[in-house]
Parts: sequence; C-alpha cells; structure tokens
Amino acid sequence: MEVLTNEMLNDIEKVLITEEEICAIAKRLGAAISRDYEGKKLVLVSVLKGSVMFMADLMRYITVPCRIDFMSVSSYGSGVKTSGVVKINKDLDKAIEGEDVLIVEDILDSGMTLSYLVELLRQRNPSSVEICTFLDKPERRTADVYAKYVGTQVPDKFVVGYGLDYDEKYRNLPFVGVLKPCVYSK
Ligand code: IMP
Ligand code: MG
Repeated sequence: MEVLTNEMLNDIEKVLITEEEICAIAKRLGAAISRDYEGKKLVLVSVLKGSVMFMADLMRYITVPCRIDFMSVSSYGSGVKTSGVVKINKDLDKAIEGEDVLIVEDILDSGMTLSYLVELLRQRNPSSVEICTFLDKPERRTADVYAKYVGTQVPDKFVVGYGLDYDEKYRNLPFVGVLKPCVYSK
C-alpha cells in the first residue's frame, strides 16, 4: 500500500483492513447479493454517514437492477458507545411497500441502531428487510439482530476510516484502522 503522509495516521494504532481487502469484500458481497436478488425489487438503504464509502463500493458490484435511498439516524449520546435511543434525522425519500429492502451499514456493534431500524422499516410493509454490514463486532452485541451479509468481523476495538468516524473525524481514511485509545480517553 502507498504510504500516506497524513496527520490522521498519528492517531492510528494499526491498520486492520487494507484497501485491497475492502475491495475484495465489496466484490464478494456484491456477487452474493446479485445472486440472491435476481428478479426481486431491490432497494439499498444506506445508513448515513458511516456507510457512504461502503455503499458506493458495494453497489458497483451489484449486477441486478436496484434503486438507492438514504437514511440518517443518530443514537442519543456521543462518543464511543450508543445509548439505544434512536432519532431519525433524515427519512427515506420514497415508500418501500412491496420492495426488497437491504440496509447497508458500516458496523454492527451493540445492534441497537439496526434492531430499531429493521423494526421501523418492517412496519412499512416491504416484501423483505435484510442487513448488509461492512463490519461486525459480535462481542459487543446486546440486541437480537441478524445480518445476512457481513464483510468481516472485527475485535472489540474502536475502529475508524472508510466512512467510520470518531467525533466526525477519520471518515476519509481509505482503510480501516484501530484508533489509539489515548485519542478518545483524553
Ligand atoms: P450499535 O447501535 O451499537 O450497533 O452502533 C452502531 C453505530 O455505532 C455504527 O453505525 C457506528 O456509527 C457506531 N460505531 C460502533 N462501533 C464503532 C467503531 O468501532 N467505530 C466507529 N463507529 C462505531
Ligand atoms: Mg453509522
């Protein structure tokens, strides 16, 4: 990988997932989704802002027709832990009734955000609702939520880059790295 001279790198303990690995994940999941959604009415729902990079990479490897929509939610409380109470900042542009919804997320951590979102979207009578998450941190799960498509599992460390932030920073790193704990314990 090209060496970046970038002040953000000082805050990264180590690179967990390289750009090459990310590309392989997008290709693999895109192929699986393309097989499973043949003949269906696929709508990709990207959860802003963390999933933007993954959404953009994943959709170019999906070979069946689909439409895309965006939702923005925030869990009350900032920092490194979610509270479980979810607020909708931006809802979908269109109804999803009769469509096959695939929620595209950056990371499945406690699962609180996604279990709430799945319930909310199910109430709108789509044909199906599934989850495609780039990262999965299974050790931290407290909510009962199932992701049909998982990019890769990560250990219980706070990770940033490739869309994932800490306090809105680091989203533009092209790889996923572990954030040095001293950055968020200050
Ligand atoms: P959950 O509701 O606990 O599953 O939290 C999901 C959300 O918390 C994700 O969409 C991220 O925005 C954020 N999050 C959880 N873990 C991390 C992490 O390691 N790095 C960056 N954001 C994270
Ligand atoms: Mg997020």
